[in-house]
Amino acid sequence: MPDAYEKFLQDLRRRKGLDLTGYKRPQMERRINSLMRSLKVEGYDTYLDLMEKEIQHWLKFLDTLTINVSEFYRNPNQWELLESKIIPELITKTPFLKLWSAGCSTGEEPYSLAMLMINRFHKVSFTLTASDIDDEVINKAKAGVYNDKAVANLPKQFLSLNFTQQGTNFVISEDVKRRVKYVKRNLLRDPFDRSYDLILCRNVVIYFTEESKAELYRKFHDALRIGGILFTGSTEQIFQPREIGFNLASSFFYRREG
Ligand SMILES: C[S@@+](CC[C@H](N)C(=O)[O-])C[C@H]1O[C@@H](n2cnc3c(N)ncnc32)[C@H](O)[C@@H]1O
Repeated sequence: MPDAYEKFLQDLRRRKGLDLTGYKRPQMERRINSLMRSLKVEGYDTYLDLMEKEIQHWLKFLDTLTINVSEFYRNPNQWELLESKIIPELITKTPFLKLWSAGCSTGEEPYSLAMLMINRFHKVSFTLTASDIDDEVINKAKAGVYNDKAVANLPKQFLSLNFTQQGTNFVISEDVKRRVKYVKRNLLRDPFDRSYDLILCRNVVIYFTEESKAELYRKFHDALRIGGILFTGSTEQIFQPREIGFNLASSFFYRREG
Protein backbone atom coordinates (compact mmCIF):
# COMPACT_ATOMS: atom_id res chain seq x y z
CA MET A 1 0.00 0.00 0.00
CA PRO A 2 1.45 3.41 -0.92
CA ASP A 3 1.51 5.95 1.93
CA ALA A 4 -0.15 9.37 1.56
CA TYR A 5 2.90 10.99 -0.02
CA GLU A 6 3.40 8.16 -2.50
CA LYS A 7 -0.26 8.32 -3.47
CA PHE A 8 0.08 12.09 -3.96
CA LEU A 9 2.99 11.47 -6.35
CA GLN A 10 0.93 8.95 -8.32
CA ASP A 11 -2.01 11.38 -8.55
CA LEU A 12 0.27 14.30 -9.43
CA ARG A 13 1.67 12.27 -12.29
CA ARG A 14 -1.75 11.16 -13.52
CA ARG A 15 -3.47 14.53 -13.18
CA LYS A 16 -0.68 17.02 -13.89
CA GLY A 17 1.87 14.93 -15.83
CA LEU A 18 4.64 15.77 -13.36
CA ASP A 19 6.61 12.78 -12.15
CA LEU A 20 8.41 13.40 -8.88
CA THR A 21 9.03 9.74 -8.11
CA GLY A 22 12.68 10.01 -9.13
CA TYR A 23 13.29 13.01 -6.84
CA LYS A 24 14.70 12.96 -3.31
CA ARG A 25 11.76 12.48 -0.99
CA PRO A 26 12.79 14.36 2.22
CA GLN A 27 13.39 17.71 0.49
CA MET A 28 10.31 17.40 -1.71
CA GLU A 29 7.99 16.32 1.09
CA ARG A 30 9.20 19.08 3.43
CA ARG A 31 8.67 21.80 0.83
CA ILE A 32 5.28 20.54 -0.28
CA ASN A 33 3.99 20.16 3.27
CA SER A 34 5.17 23.59 4.30
CA LEU A 35 3.57 25.11 1.21
CA MET A 36 0.27 23.39 2.07
CA ARG A 37 0.49 24.70 5.64
CA SER A 38 1.07 28.25 4.39
CA LEU A 39 -2.03 27.92 2.18
CA LYS A 40 -4.00 26.29 5.03
CA VAL A 41 -4.78 23.37 2.75
CA GLU A 42 -5.46 20.05 4.43
CA GLY A 43 -4.81 16.83 2.56
CA TYR A 44 -3.02 16.15 -0.71
CA ASP A 45 -6.28 15.57 -2.61
CA THR A 46 -7.60 19.03 -1.71
CA TYR A 47 -4.29 20.54 -2.74
CA LEU A 48 -4.36 18.76 -6.11
CA ASP A 49 -7.92 19.99 -6.73
CA LEU A 50 -6.80 23.53 -5.96
CA MET A 51 -3.80 23.32 -8.30
CA GLU A 52 -5.99 21.94 -11.05
CA LYS A 53 -8.59 24.68 -10.64
CA GLU A 54 -6.31 27.66 -10.18
CA ILE A 55 -3.22 27.99 -12.32
CA GLN A 56 -1.47 30.37 -9.89
CA HIS A 57 -1.37 27.59 -7.29
CA TRP A 58 0.20 25.23 -9.80
CA LEU A 59 2.84 27.80 -10.76
CA LYS A 60 3.49 28.53 -7.09
CA PHE A 61 3.94 24.79 -6.49
CA LEU A 62 6.56 24.55 -9.25
CA ASP A 63 8.22 27.73 -8.01
CA THR A 64 8.42 26.43 -4.47
CA LEU A 65 10.16 23.30 -5.58
CA THR A 66 12.44 25.74 -7.49
CA ILE A 67 11.60 23.54 -10.38
CA ASN A 68 11.21 26.22 -13.02
CA VAL A 69 13.40 29.16 -11.98
CA SER A 70 15.60 30.32 -14.84
CA GLU A 71 17.42 33.34 -16.26
CA PHE A 72 19.27 34.34 -19.43
CA TYR A 73 23.00 33.55 -19.43
CA ARG A 74 22.75 31.78 -16.08
CA ASN A 75 26.37 31.53 -14.78
CA PRO A 76 27.79 33.95 -17.38
CA ASN A 77 31.38 32.60 -17.12
CA GLN A 78 30.20 29.27 -18.43
CA TRP A 79 28.44 30.93 -21.36
CA GLU A 80 31.68 32.79 -22.12
CA LEU A 81 33.49 29.47 -22.21
CA LEU A 82 30.79 28.06 -24.45
CA GLU A 83 31.43 30.93 -26.86
CA SER A 84 35.24 31.06 -26.69
CA LYS A 85 36.08 27.34 -26.54
CA ILE A 86 33.27 24.81 -26.77
CA ILE A 87 31.37 25.97 -29.86
CA PRO A 88 34.55 26.89 -31.82
CA GLU A 89 35.79 23.34 -31.17
CA LEU A 90 32.50 21.78 -32.22
CA ILE A 91 32.37 23.68 -35.51
CA THR A 92 35.83 22.48 -36.55
CA LYS A 93 34.17 19.09 -37.06
CA THR A 94 30.84 20.03 -38.62
CA PRO A 95 29.31 23.10 -40.30
CA PHE A 96 25.91 22.17 -38.89
CA LEU A 97 25.09 21.91 -35.18
CA LYS A 98 22.28 19.94 -33.63
CA LEU A 99 21.49 21.53 -30.25
CA TRP A 100 19.15 20.60 -27.40
CA SER A 101 18.16 22.49 -24.27
CA ALA A 102 16.76 19.74 -22.01
CA GLY A 103 14.65 21.10 -19.15
CA CYS A 104 14.32 24.50 -20.82
CA SER A 105 11.76 25.95 -18.39
CA THR A 106 10.43 29.34 -19.55
CA GLY A 107 12.86 29.67 -22.47
CA GLU A 108 15.73 31.75 -21.09
CA GLU A 109 18.28 29.00 -21.76
CA PRO A 110 17.35 28.03 -25.35
CA TYR A 111 16.91 31.70 -26.32
CA SER A 112 20.34 32.51 -24.82
CA LEU A 113 21.83 29.77 -26.98
CA ALA A 114 19.91 30.87 -30.09
CA MET A 115 21.12 34.46 -29.61
CA LEU A 116 24.69 33.29 -29.12
CA MET A 117 24.54 31.32 -32.38
CA ILE A 118 22.81 34.08 -34.36
CA ASN A 119 24.97 36.96 -33.09
CA ARG A 120 28.38 35.33 -32.76
CA PHE A 121 28.32 32.31 -35.12
CA HIS A 122 26.08 33.61 -37.86
CA LYS A 123 27.72 31.46 -40.56
CA VAL A 124 26.97 28.23 -38.71
CA SER A 125 23.70 26.41 -39.42
CA PHE A 126 21.93 24.92 -36.44
CA THR A 127 18.74 23.33 -35.22
CA LEU A 128 17.72 23.93 -31.63
CA THR A 129 15.17 21.83 -29.76
CA ALA A 130 14.01 22.89 -26.31
CA SER A 131 12.10 20.46 -24.13
CA ASP A 132 10.39 20.43 -20.79
CA ILE A 133 7.98 18.21 -18.91
CA ASP A 134 5.70 21.11 -18.06
CA ASP A 135 3.21 22.60 -20.57
CA GLU A 136 2.85 25.83 -18.60
CA VAL A 137 6.51 26.77 -18.83
CA ILE A 138 6.60 25.83 -22.52
CA ASN A 139 3.69 28.20 -23.14
CA LYS A 140 5.48 30.97 -21.28
CA ALA A 141 8.63 30.27 -23.30
CA LYS A 142 6.67 30.55 -26.53
CA ALA A 143 5.22 33.88 -25.40
CA GLY A 144 8.79 35.12 -24.80
CA VAL A 145 8.07 37.96 -22.36
CA TYR A 146 10.59 38.58 -19.55
CA ASN A 147 11.26 41.00 -16.72
CA ASP A 148 14.48 42.96 -16.18
CA LYS A 149 15.76 40.49 -13.57
CA ALA A 150 15.68 37.62 -16.09
CA VAL A 151 17.81 39.52 -18.63
CA ALA A 152 20.31 41.04 -16.15
CA ASN A 153 23.27 38.80 -17.17
CA LEU A 154 22.65 38.89 -20.89
CA PRO A 155 25.29 40.67 -23.06
CA LYS A 156 23.91 44.17 -23.58
CA GLN A 157 24.30 43.85 -27.34
CA PHE A 158 21.90 40.87 -27.39
CA LEU A 159 19.38 42.82 -25.38
CA SER A 160 19.35 45.69 -27.85
CA LEU A 161 19.45 43.46 -30.95
CA ASN A 162 16.99 40.74 -30.02
CA PHE A 163 14.33 42.26 -27.75
CA THR A 164 11.82 45.04 -27.78
CA GLN A 165 10.96 46.74 -24.54
CA GLN A 166 7.29 47.02 -23.57
CA GLY A 167 6.97 48.98 -20.36
CA THR A 168 9.08 47.09 -17.83
CA ASN A 169 9.06 43.90 -19.91
CA PHE A 170 11.44 42.63 -22.58
CA VAL A 171 9.91 40.72 -25.50
CA ILE A 172 12.10 38.36 -27.52
CA SER A 173 12.18 38.96 -31.28
CA GLU A 174 10.45 36.66 -33.77
CA ASP A 175 13.83 36.02 -35.43
CA VAL A 176 15.11 34.34 -32.28
CA LYS A 177 11.80 32.70 -31.42
CA ARG A 178 11.50 30.86 -34.69
CA ARG A 179 14.93 29.25 -34.26
CA VAL A 180 13.73 27.29 -31.22
CA LYS A 181 11.44 24.28 -31.50
CA TYR A 182 9.62 23.49 -28.24
CA VAL A 183 8.51 19.97 -27.36
CA LYS A 184 7.12 18.34 -24.25
CA ARG A 185 9.45 15.56 -23.00
CA ASN A 186 9.92 13.73 -19.74
CA LEU A 187 13.65 13.17 -19.40
CA LEU A 188 13.12 10.26 -17.03
CA ARG A 189 10.82 8.32 -19.32
CA ASP A 190 10.83 9.42 -22.96
CA PRO A 191 13.27 8.14 -25.60
CA PHE A 192 15.86 10.61 -26.90
CA ASP A 193 16.79 11.56 -30.43
CA ARG A 194 20.42 10.95 -31.51
CA SER A 195 23.49 12.70 -32.93
CA TYR A 196 23.36 15.91 -30.92
CA ASP A 197 26.46 18.09 -30.94
CA LEU A 198 25.55 19.92 -27.76
CA ILE A 199 23.04 19.16 -25.01
CA LEU A 200 22.36 21.63 -22.22
CA CYS A 201 20.84 20.10 -19.12
CA ARG A 202 21.29 22.59 -16.34
CA ASN A 203 19.65 22.91 -12.95
CA VAL A 204 17.28 20.09 -13.80
CA VAL A 205 18.66 17.05 -11.98
CA ILE A 206 19.06 18.66 -8.55
CA TYR A 207 16.08 16.76 -7.16
CA PHE A 208 16.70 13.52 -9.03
CA THR A 209 17.85 10.42 -7.17
CA GLU A 210 21.39 9.18 -7.82
CA GLU A 211 19.99 6.30 -9.90
CA SER A 212 17.84 8.60 -12.06
CA LYS A 213 20.81 10.92 -12.59
CA ALA A 214 23.13 8.08 -13.58
CA GLU A 215 20.58 6.72 -16.03
CA LEU A 216 19.91 10.17 -17.48
CA TYR A 217 23.61 10.88 -18.03
CA ARG A 218 24.00 7.54 -19.80
CA LYS A 219 21.04 8.44 -22.05
CA PHE A 220 22.61 11.84 -22.81
CA HIS A 221 25.90 10.11 -23.63
CA ASP A 222 24.16 7.90 -26.17
CA ALA A 223 22.22 10.85 -27.60
CA LEU A 224 25.42 12.78 -28.39
CA ARG A 225 27.58 12.10 -31.39
CA ILE A 226 31.19 11.18 -30.60
CA GLY A 227 32.93 14.41 -29.56
CA GLY A 228 29.59 16.01 -28.67
CA ILE A 229 29.26 18.00 -25.43
CA LEU A 230 26.95 17.84 -22.41
CA PHE A 231 26.74 21.18 -20.57
CA THR A 232 25.54 20.80 -16.96
CA GLY A 233 24.56 23.21 -14.17
CA SER A 234 27.10 24.60 -11.73
CA THR A 235 25.97 22.31 -8.90
CA GLU A 236 25.63 19.27 -11.09
CA GLN A 237 29.10 17.87 -11.59
CA ILE A 238 29.34 14.28 -12.81
CA PHE A 239 31.67 12.56 -10.36
CA GLN A 240 32.87 9.61 -12.42
CA PRO A 241 32.44 10.88 -16.01
CA ARG A 242 34.79 8.27 -17.49
CA GLU A 243 32.61 5.45 -16.22
CA ILE A 244 29.84 6.74 -18.48
CA GLY A 245 32.15 7.48 -21.41
CA PHE A 246 32.68 11.23 -20.97
CA ASN A 247 35.90 13.16 -20.57
CA LEU A 248 36.03 16.62 -19.04
CA ALA A 249 36.28 19.30 -21.73
CA SER A 250 36.15 22.00 -19.02
CA SER A 251 34.30 22.35 -15.70
CA PHE A 252 30.64 21.57 -16.39
CA PHE A 253 31.32 20.54 -20.02
CA TYR A 254 31.56 16.81 -20.71
CA ARG A 255 32.71 15.40 -24.04
CA ARG A 256 31.49 12.05 -25.36
CA GLU A 257 34.51 9.85 -25.91
CA GLY A 258 33.53 6.75 -27.78
C1 LIG B 1 15.21 25.06 -12.63
S1 LIG B 1 14.59 24.82 -14.25
C2 LIG B 1 16.07 24.97 -15.17
C3 LIG B 1 15.90 25.82 -16.40
C4 LIG B 1 17.17 26.05 -17.19
N1 LIG B 1 17.73 24.81 -17.66
C5 LIG B 1 18.18 26.80 -16.36
O1 LIG B 1 19.22 26.25 -16.00
O2 LIG B 1 17.93 27.98 -16.07
C6 LIG B 1 14.28 23.08 -14.28
C7 LIG B 1 13.32 22.63 -15.37
O3 LIG B 1 13.40 21.22 -15.48
C8 LIG B 1 12.12 20.72 -15.77
N2 LIG B 1 12.07 19.32 -15.38
C9 LIG B 1 12.08 18.80 -14.14
N3 LIG B 1 11.96 17.46 -14.18
C10 LIG B 1 11.88 17.14 -15.51
C11 LIG B 1 11.75 15.91 -16.22
N4 LIG B 1 11.67 14.76 -15.57
N5 LIG B 1 11.69 15.96 -17.56
C12 LIG B 1 11.77 17.13 -18.24
N6 LIG B 1 11.89 18.32 -17.63
C13 LIG B 1 11.96 18.32 -16.28
C14 LIG B 1 11.19 21.59 -14.95
O4 LIG B 1 9.86 21.55 -15.42
C15 LIG B 1 11.87 22.95 -15.07
O5 LIG B 1 11.28 23.72 -16.07
